[in-house]
Amino acid sequence: MITPLSSHTGAEVTGVDLTQPVDAALREHLNRAFVEHSVLVFRDQHLSPPQLLAAVQLFGEVFPQHNTRFALPDCPQIHYLSNQDHFPDGRRYIPGEGWHTDHSNDSRPPMATVLHAVKLPSRGGDTQFANMAAAYEALPTATRERLAPLIAIHVYQSSHSARKLMALPEARKERVPNAVLHPMVRTHPESGRKSIYLNPIRIEGILGLDHKEALPLLDELLAHGTEERFQYRHAWKPGDLVMWDNRCLLHKANGDYDMDQVRYRWIPGIA
Ligand SMILES: [Fe+2]
Repeated sequence: MITPLSSHTGAEVTGVDLTQPVDAALREHLNRAFVEHSVLVFRDQHLSPPQLLAAVQLFGEVFPQHNTRFALPDCPQIHYLSNQDHFPDGRRYIPGEGWHTDHSNDSRPPMATVLHAVKLPSRGGDTQFANMAAAYEALPTATRERLAPLIAIHVYQSSHSARKLMALPEARKERVPNAVLHPMVRTHPESGRKSIYLNPIRIEGILGLDHKEALPLLDELLAHGTEERFQYRHAWKPGDLVMWDNRCLLHKANGDYDMDQVRYRWIPGIA
């Protein structure tokens, strides 16, 4: 059963066990629900890494993640997210803090990301989603016209971002592009809806605009796009498997829980 979780973003899927075979009709139904709701929350799933890989492949190919330091040794196509990792200087690394969309520094960013809860803190650690299609539709016409021709430059780590990422391993640097270009307005290939394509941790600039013009525009779009009216905030339950559409959403983690409690999840991307 599919139950919307807000008027614009998110739906809960119950009565599906992803360890069991999924027939073509159900697969089609889930794919349609995903395009319609942008976030699917499968409750009560308890998957092993290979079962998670099989579940992800119901929706597309597995995306090769960029930073291989987080790969599971026994199932390297799946990476983990943990609050127990630290930067080389000893500071704790909270993955996913700050609004972003995944891997926009790739020429073909993953269409979706899946997170499966393995260990959760007793409270806090919600994931917030902002619907950038709804945000686009709410922009004044003049802003939509201004954005239409703009192309943004995306890099692994934007020099404008306050949030610093874990450095890529040397061997991986050769395989990750230095910079890629993406339009600031994307058209969803399945729904046909347009959305603002933003990423504060990756956007280095906008082609043809100097920073004096580009940075305030990016700030203004982020403030607009992440207004509460465009958000769905997910409070995690044990067994949750959450899948979201990177083509039309921003998301952010919250490091607002007791860091002595382990928060550990698996994160495959879908190409
Ligand atoms: Fe993310």
